[in-house]
Amino acid sequence: MSKPAETEQSKESSKILVLDDEHSIRWVLERTLSQAGYIPHLATDVPEARQHLGKHSIRLALVDINLPGQDGLSFAREILEEYPSLMIIVMTGQSTMYNTVEAMKAGVFDYVTKPFDIDEIEELVKRALRVPLNTREITRIKSRKKEDDLLTGQSKVMHDLYKAIGRVSATDLTVLIQGESGTGKELIARSIHQHSLRASQPFVAINCAAIPSELMESELFGHEKGAFTGATDRKRGKLELASQGTLFLDEIGDMPMRLQSKLLRVLQEKQFERLGGHELITTNMRVIAATHHDLENLINNSQFRTDLYYRLNVFPVNIASLRERREDIPVLVEHFLQKGSKEMAVGCKAVEPEAMSVLARYNWPGNIRELENTVKSLMITNVTGTIMLDSLPKNLFKRQPLPDSEESLEEVASRKLEALVKDAVQFDRGSLMAEVLPQVERPLLNLLLEQTRWNQQRAARILGINRNTLRKKIETLGLKNQRGLEK
Ligand SMILES: Nc1ncnc2c1ncn2[C@@H]1O[C@H](COP(=O)(O)OP(=O)(O)OP(=O)(O)O)[C@@H](O)[C@H]1O
Ligand SMILES: [Mg+2]
Repeated sequence: MSKPAETEQSKESSKILVLDDEHSIRWVLERTLSQAGYIPHLATDVPEARQHLGKHSIRLALVDINLPGQDGLSFAREILEEYPSLMIIVMTGQSTMYNTVEAMKAGVFDYVTKPFDIDEIEELVKRALRVPLNTREITRIKSRKKEDDLLTGQSKVMHDLYKAIGRVSATDLTVLIQGESGTGKELIARSIHQHSLRASQPFVAINCAAIPSELMESELFGHEKGAFTGATDRKRGKLELASQGTLFLDEIGDMPMRLQSKLLRVLQEKQFERLGGHELITTNMRVIAATHHDLENLINNSQFRTDLYYRLNVFPVNIASLRERREDIPVLVEHFLQKGSKEMAVGCKAVEPEAMSVLARYNWPGNIRELENTVKSLMITNVTGTIMLDSLPKNLFKRQPLPDSEESLEEVASRKLEALVKDAVQFDRGSLMAEVLPQVERPLLNLLLEQTRWNQQRAARILGINRNTLRKKIETLGLKNQRGLEK
């Protein structure tokens, strides 16, 4: 471990490569990085970037994906082979699931979407340079060929999910996916498998909620001929079929307790026997489990084993409900319209804006599955080519009466904003943003600063913004430390 003073010094003089064909991006990054005390080296294309890497000892590279000649992603892969301790942050104007997953898999430090917040980049650069040189270990695995992405969505939640999929696909870690029904848990499991080293091996799914418990044991473990009445032949179970691939234990929360112990033993020992057999079968499977139950609740009610929970929850993935990431709704509707027109041989449809805003406001208790089914049935019943407001099912118009405590901030805000927006539109006012934002920022910062006793460094960290930005906001919002709480 180096001494703190040295680390600080080397951080400040760190050489950073900026590879982007866009002049304005190079310009803004050069200015920001040099002001922050780093030494930027600018390149417009891959050959120029290589020259810098050859000449200077570069610690970090900011690499654009869309470049003339060679794309930034394959360049990132190549240079990580040559310079394994180089930190890379990938930047892109068009973020896709494929690019995000592939970049993370290649071992880049992070992935940001343009236009980016310059404070965010500064923070990221700082964090990347804080990673000690020798503790970095990259499991590099071959990139998957580009197929259609399984998951759709451009919200922050989805971007973080793509990154998580990329990170975990490069490993053999056990994954536990938790989320409400219809949020895409199975698609996430399939994506991890498809991007992993096991992609050419089987993905074997078993749904613990759909199979009667007395059949589940033989489904999982298989059985020998004559093991029980009706066992006329030897049968290989899912554990055996998944041996070199991925076993997806869907709805794991519904697995009977007795089987939970048996499964735990297999996970620990990586060996099992078929029912009615004595031959020890060794398995090398990777396990992904999913559930819509709150497993900690089940544990408290003695319906789920704690030890199994810890065995499974090695890499947790929690997927938010659709109403917590409403900005994905229009993108998903578009996706299902296209998918529907391919699958159902009906012409391509469009959704009129008024109808789209109803879809975007609805609560979707059944999440993406409910949205998909709604879009499909609208496509079938629609004859005009455009899905209009009056063709939407009536239940979509009902504002779900939510108790106060369950109403999300977004819902409260959209209720409160309705009149304000109407008014601004009517009078064509040009200051709506400046009127609204302080009303959100002021209470947020006031509360946070009070709870952090005006420790601005801590508050900035919790907000995920940089300290200067916070200081400016405090000034412009006119916030005062009333009780002399400042440290
Ligand atoms: N991000 C997404 N992009 C596109 N389609 C999605 C996405 N997430 C889910 N879907 C679609 O929504 C449906 C439900 O997804 P999936 O079966 O993976 O959800 P689940 O969480 O496993 O649901 P359940 O708990 O009901 O089993 C599927 O038809 C799937 O194709
Ligand atoms: Mg499912």
